[in-house]
Amino acid sequence: MQIIESIANLKEEKNAIILAHNYVRGELQDIADVVGDSLELARSASATDASVIVFCGVDFMAETASILNPDKKVLIPDIGSICPMAQMLMVEDLIEAKKAHPDAKVVLYVNTLAEAKVHADCICTSANADRIVNAMESDTILFGPDINLGNYVRKHTDKKIIPVPAYGLCPTHHQITLSDLIKAKKAHPGAEVVVHPECVEEVQDMADQIASTSGMVKYCKHSDADEFLIGTEVGLIYRMKKEMPDKKFYPVSESAVCPQMKMHTLEKVERALREEIFEVKVPEMIQKEAIKPIMRMLDLSK
Ligand code: 13P
Ligand code: SF4
Repeated sequence: MQIIESIANLKEEKNAIILAHNYVRGELQDIADVVGDSLELARSASATDASVIVFCGVDFMAETASILNPDKKVLIPDIGSICPMAQMLMVEDLIEAKKAHPDAKVVLYVNTLAEAKVHADCICTSANADRIVNAMESDTILFGPDINLGNYVRKHTDKKIIPVPAYGLCPTHHQITLSDLIKAKKAHPGAEVVVHPECVEEVQDMADQIASTSGMVKYCKHSDADEFLIGTEVGLIYRMKKEMPDKKFYPVSESAVCPQMKMHTLEKVERALREEIFEVKVPEMIQKEAIKPIMRMLDLSK
């Protein structure tokens, strides 16, 4: 295809790499240098020697790549790819919570804005949240914005978890209901249930495995089962089918689509590379502070 050739030529000419999250369209996963979860993509962004990073993912992921690489050009193919969960934590609310709990440490999900990360002791992703919380030097943790990831962590720690805000969530995972799962289990009684920790608690409670998106892929690879019910954004199933053609994957809910992840297309990737738009950059004052809790997470999850 001409457009794929054009992207390959532009990548070479500009010394660029393409990082893609597990939820983006299949055709983008196919041309990406790395396809992964938030932690893997942050690691790849911190390790690359490319001059340009084209980030096929949502705003906070591209922002994290830029914070880790302030001298590189980080481009996002569609500037509208904004994660609604990351918008749910207001910096003012976090500052108020810190005042109310001065001895607490702050662990923020990577799904937050850079301005909020500045106030965190450590960042976490769905792949390391319990480990990061347990590594903090306090018995009380302010954790946000995802209430469901917070509930998952609560079951894996003795520490007191205080959610900030009181009820942040992912609208896409919120659509995966217990009744969807019961229906799916009836249709595929032999399938193992593998879900993301952004799912509501009652869905998590019925799962055989709860993991990050790449953790879900790994679990299915190592499992002896050959059928799986997948409780997360449906784009992950493209990767699963591609890497495990002999196994069967069914979404718990077909409507679990993240519209923001689907905004990126081959045409937009080609244009972003050709015109070097849309660059993601945070002000230097914020970058210098936000990098600290991100680096701490990368150090703690080696
Ligand atoms: P992962 O880090 O598990 O890929 O999750 C990112 C995300 O936004 C899930 O909705
Ligand atoms: Fe944000 Fe949910 Fe989309 Fe993940 S799936 S990027 S948390 S809206």
